[in-house]
Amino acid sequence: MKIVFARDYKDMSRKAANIVSAQVILKNDSVLGLATGGTPLGLYAQLIEWQRKDDISFRGVRSVNLDEYVGLSAEHPQSYRRYMNESFFNRIDIDKANTFVPDGTAEDLQAECAAYDRRIESLGGLDLQLLGIGHNGHIGFNEPGEDFRMNTHVVTLSENTRRANARFFDGNMELVPKQAVTMGLLHIMQARRVLLVAGEDKRDILLRALRGPVTPKIPASILQLHANLTVICCCEPF
Ligand code: GLP
Repeated sequence: MKIVFARDYKDMSRKAANIVSAQVILKNDSVLGLATGGTPLGLYAQLIEWQRKDDISFRGVRSVNLDEYVGLSAEHPQSYRRYMNESFFNRIDIDKANTFVPDGTAEDLQAECAAYDRRIESLGGLDLQLLGIGHNGHIGFNEPGEDFRMNTHVVTLSENTRRANARFFDGNMELVPKQAVTMGLLHIMQARRVLLVAGEDKRDILLRALRGPVTPKIPASILQLHANLTVICCCEPF
């Protein structure tokens, strides 16, 4: 595990963008596992800038997102599909047909989960998985629990997670979906490289996840067992 302490958010975003960019330069048909949330926005903005300058191209890249809220359509302003389109995909040269986000409106969610796992396998797995981290140690929407959930699954979001994400729903908890579909820990752990980005407010949870015991009560702690994990954070060193 390599932990890089960046000076500030901008420095963190640029350092992380350098790693994603190197991945795409070295393998232009990379399969990128992508994340949402506030933290990666600076990284996406940096990649957009470099793509516009023609320094990199995403033409051959395939992407697989971590998660999606149950019940939100692709057009819903707070769906992760919409977030990805607006914050990244619409602004780079990626072929949208090669971008995958779970369908939170699928009638048969179990079938959607199984199909999502098959999709990742048919792409040959993830070359690089980008992650943020929740204050309770969730990655994607893998919430704390009694065991590590390996496959793509439907999850009931914790109060803590819904409260943290209410800021994207006009601060109204009522509007925050109660469930989500999330990639499980198997494909995250099988990714050939994992890149975790975290802001200054995540110091406590990073400390517990990366230096404490590996436990499903802190899902991100499983990353300690990953052979190629890079963490870029802009908090006080620990
Ligand atoms: C969300 C997402 C996660 C993200 C986390 C942290 O719930 N499902 O993928 O890493 O919360 O978000 P933020 O970066 O906004 O703190």
